Amino acid sequence: MNLILLGAPGAGKGTQAELLVKKLSIPAISTGNMLREAMNNGSQLGQQVKKIMEEGSLVPDDVVLDIVAERVSKDDCANGFILDGVPRTLAQALALDERGIQIDHVVSIEIDDSVIEGRMTGRRVCSKCGASYHVVANPPKVEGVCDACGGELTIRKDDAAETVRHRLQVYHQQTEVLKSYYAKQNKLCMVEGNQSIENANRDILQAIGANV
Ligand code: AP5
Repeated sequence: MNLILLGAPGAGKGTQAELLVKKLSIPAISTGNMLREAMNNGSQLGQQVKKIMEEGSLVPDDVVLDIVAERVSKDDCANGFILDGVPRTLAQALALDERGIQIDHVVSIEIDDSVIEGRMTGRRVCSKCGASYHVVANPPKVEGVCDACGGELTIRKDDAAETVRHRLQVYHQQTEVLKSYYAKQNKLCMVEGNQSIENANRDILQAIGANV
């Protein structure tokens, strides 16, 4: 099962990816988390993408595609993977096809822009493993501490209100077109994102025909 999670910033892609990892026993590949890790490590890649990510614009396609191609070739992806946050442009989607990276289902998590701001201001992310929480909708067991790995929970720099508005603009201009691209391939399903995390997860599993 090779799956893509599509959706605006804050739609719940990362949250749903974490749940699907447990239910489907396949890894999630979050380009956002991988790039943030590179930034935190101060690697050459991290330095290259820092300014772009902090302003909420997209990292160049070739940079992202190389990371993804390397990651999906690893042994743990043999039975499938969940792409969270990639592809993000038509060029990235075409490149995945050209590189022979097969996709079975594309789930678009639908949510209105007006809901996003509340989600972003309440979001906390683990500085170690990237797990995503919300102070009200999905709080950690211990405030400020990641349930999964004990890492410190922090606020993402690109969750500032003005940057979120720019990220939403980028989504509508460059990413939303992927819905029609995958609809033409009969791979697209749309799931309501403005409902509880559990119900959205149930709908995703149903949409992809997962019997879990
Ligand atoms: P990335 O990390 O991918 O950010 P994004 O797509 O903007 O998505 P988010 O992580 O903000 O949101 P999400 O949908 O995962 O929501 P979440 O589950 O956390 O990318 C960051 C940057 O990296 C980009 O701007 C770009 O610069 C670069 N980049 C990454 N990939 C790239 C690519 N392919 N090409 C080029 N550049 C790339 O949920 C949000 C909040 O809501 C959380 O607090 C959560 O707990 C809460 N929540 C979730 N579901 C619900 C619910 N049902 N009800 C209530 N609250 C909920």
